[in-house]
Amino acid sequence: MERENTGIQGMDELISGGIPRNSVTLVSGSPGTGKSIFSLQFLKEGAERGQRSLYISFEEEPEQVISQTEGFGWKLRELQAKGNLKLVYNDITQRILKEGETYIDIIKGQIEAYKPDRLVIDSLTPLANFPISFDELVQYGLATEFDSFSPIGIQQDILVRLQMHKLINVVRRAKCTSLLISEVKKNSEWMSSDKISEFLADGIILLKYLGGGVTRTLSIEKMRGTQHYEDEAALKIGDEGITVEKIEEQFR
Ligand SMILES: Nc1ncnc2c1ncn2[C@@H]1O[C@H](COP(=O)(O)OP(=O)(O)O)[C@@H](O)[C@H]1O
Ligand SMILES: [Mg+2]
Repeated sequence: MERENTGIQGMDELISGGIPRNSVTLVSGSPGTGKSIFSLQFLKEGAERGQRSLYISFEEEPEQVISQTEGFGWKLRELQAKGNLKLVYNDITQRILKEGETYIDIIKGQIEAYKPDRLVIDSLTPLANFPISFDELVQYGLATEFDSFSPIGIQQDILVRLQMHKLINVVRRAKCTSLLISEVKKNSEWMSSDKISEFLADGIILLKYLGGGVTRTLSIEKMRGTQHYEDEAALKIGDEGITVEKIEEQFR
């Protein structure tokens, strides 16, 4: 099996050498657990190896993203200039959708335009909250053209599930190694905000913030087709970015 190095010190050895190539991995955690830094570091590693790395953000402008990593000494602007890294921002507060278009169409277009080897979508959560166009409701048989803009009796859950299923299919067909970020509430019983992508993804990496001695942890909840470390590992955000380390028995 071909694998991709994560570029995160200590991580690859937890997953038998790297993330399986062309797999779809959910990176899940509550706000501030390090999901964005983790996934940018994964893209940086690819870009430094001459791969094409694409970051699709629904949360922050590229400049803002880059400035947050400047303290780590990462040369993201250089990688951008070389064409190995691309950051795109979709502002969901603006009406960027054309009639009949959905955010999945936008993402698909952005993937097809850049043809990445590595892909990050940060995050799925706004998509789960603004899931679907009216045309799609009709197409799925969940509404008729006669329904009002906010059709009564359609379960939001079902729409979100359909939408996420579709998105993951788009990502899978793109044949790149992808990390899809999902925000979950602290101590949630679910691994994803939409409660479906955790079943559809090939892998799940869960990040937690604990406070106290070992403040942050990372665990691999699932990774299809590979052996992986099954305990929580310590995650540190240091001077150059994220590192992970097995937690020694005496600290358990
Ligand atoms: N240079 C740094 N050194 C240590 N910790 C940092 C540094 N930069 C950011 N952090 C930590 O990383 C957290 C944000 O990480 P981020 O990846 O944006 O989280 P998420 O995407 O999960 O919300 C901050 O809350 C802060 O605690
Ligand atoms: Mg983030």
